[in-house]
Amino acid sequence: MTDAARIPEHGRDAKELLADIEARHAEDIDWRGGRAFSLVYNVDDHEHEELIEQVGLRYLHDNALNPFKYPSVLQMELDVIAMAAQLLGTQPDAGSMSSGGTESIFLAVQVARDHARTVRGIAEPQLLTPSTAHPAFAKAAKYLDIEHILVPVGDDGRADVAATEAAITDRTGLIVGSAPCYPYGVIDPITDLAAMAMEREILFHTDACLGGWILPWWERLGEDVAPWDFRVPGVTSISADIHKYGYTFKGASTVLYKSRDLLQLQFFWYDEWPGGLYASGTAAGTRSAAPIAGAWAAINHLGEDGYLRLTEIVRETSHRLQAGIEAIDGLRLTHQPDLSLFEFGSDTLDIGAIGDVMDDRGWNLDRQQGGLHLMISPYHARIVDRFLADLADAVAAHGESRGVEASYGGLPGA
Ligand SMILES: Cc1ncc(COP(=O)(O)O)c(C=O)c1O
Repeated sequence: MTDAARIPEHGRDAKELLADIEARHAEDIDWRGGRAFSLVYNVDDHEHEELIEQVGLRYLHDNALNPFKYPSVLQMELDVIAMAAQLLGTQPDAGSMSSGGTESIFLAVQVARDHARTVRGIAEPQLLTPSTAHPAFAKAAKYLDIEHILVPVGDDGRADVAATEAAITDRTGLIVGSAPCYPYGVIDPITDLAAMAMEREILFHTDACLGGWILPWWERLGEDVAPWDFRVPGVTSISADIHKYGYTFKGASTVLYKSRDLLQLQFFWYDEWPGGLYASGTAAGTRSAAPIAGAWAAINHLGEDGYLRLTEIVRETSHRLQAGIEAIDGLRLTHQPDLSLFEFGSDTLDIGAIGDVMDDRGWNLDRQQGGLHLMISPYHARIVDRFLADLADAVAAHGESRGVEASYGGLPGA
């Protein structure tokens, strides 16, 4: 363990600090070289990156807590919400921007909890999700103190409709499906799940944090996409992150509702404070304005044609990687992915040991319980052949697994 940091007695020189930061940053994951398959969505477009960086800088010090002091930020936020609503098929004012997928999910769970309590008279509502739903739902259940019921998925990795139906109780407040789920990249049977929810007046959330800003273009390219958005009867809320396949920097997500009535349940008003009436629409108080402006700029810069162009690259790259992996003797995709992220594993080889060789060669493949995970972004078009050659080598010559465990995320200091 290193010694705990201390506030320096004398401030350090800015140039020397920047050099220090550069050196530290160089130790971090090399996503710019296409060696990361999660965490960052590398758009492979220098002009786009530079634009959002410039926009981020302009708004770096600004606080979106009080939008009325920032008419420019307010308008950009309203525009982003309206554009997301257009994409997903709801009213232009029936949503919010949040700091990320986790916050959007928290908000949707909180709305469902309060809807169950106030509209349906359920004092202690339950949250029902497939086992592949993002851990943000478990976290929301913990923080919001509601019971979380997990339903195992079917062999194809998709939510099991019959098992979900069997798990519904008269306390179910929210049913969830993913479009797609992170571990396998498959879309849950949203039409069936949402219909079941609607019949019983239960709210239904599609978690499209990952797919929200790519599936619409995927469909426009002529791919078969199982229905998942507000066109599906019974879907009452959707989370969709712009900081993923919307290609802006971190801190930009949207949560949208079928109607503004549901959104109202999310709003917080407090007038017992000596400071005056306090109102806020999401979980945060002070909010950086930069991600709002960055998201607005990213969407406007790319436009429909830009998103279609990038989606075509992601689709082709995913297909090349999937075919290349399946062509290596002993490897297989564990599920048939609907999109640009997937898990591969093996029935005969030590997949952990293969992951170790790939680590040693500088690739960062996330380890899951059933194998190794890839999520494709446009830059990966450049590394397909090198990656597959290294993977074939790793399969041909790997030793014993070092026993690296499946994990995602982490706790500073733990
Ligand atoms: C399907 C899905 N939902 C939710 C999230 C959570 O998003 P965030 O990490 O922005 O909080 C993720 C993150 O990868 C995800 O893949």
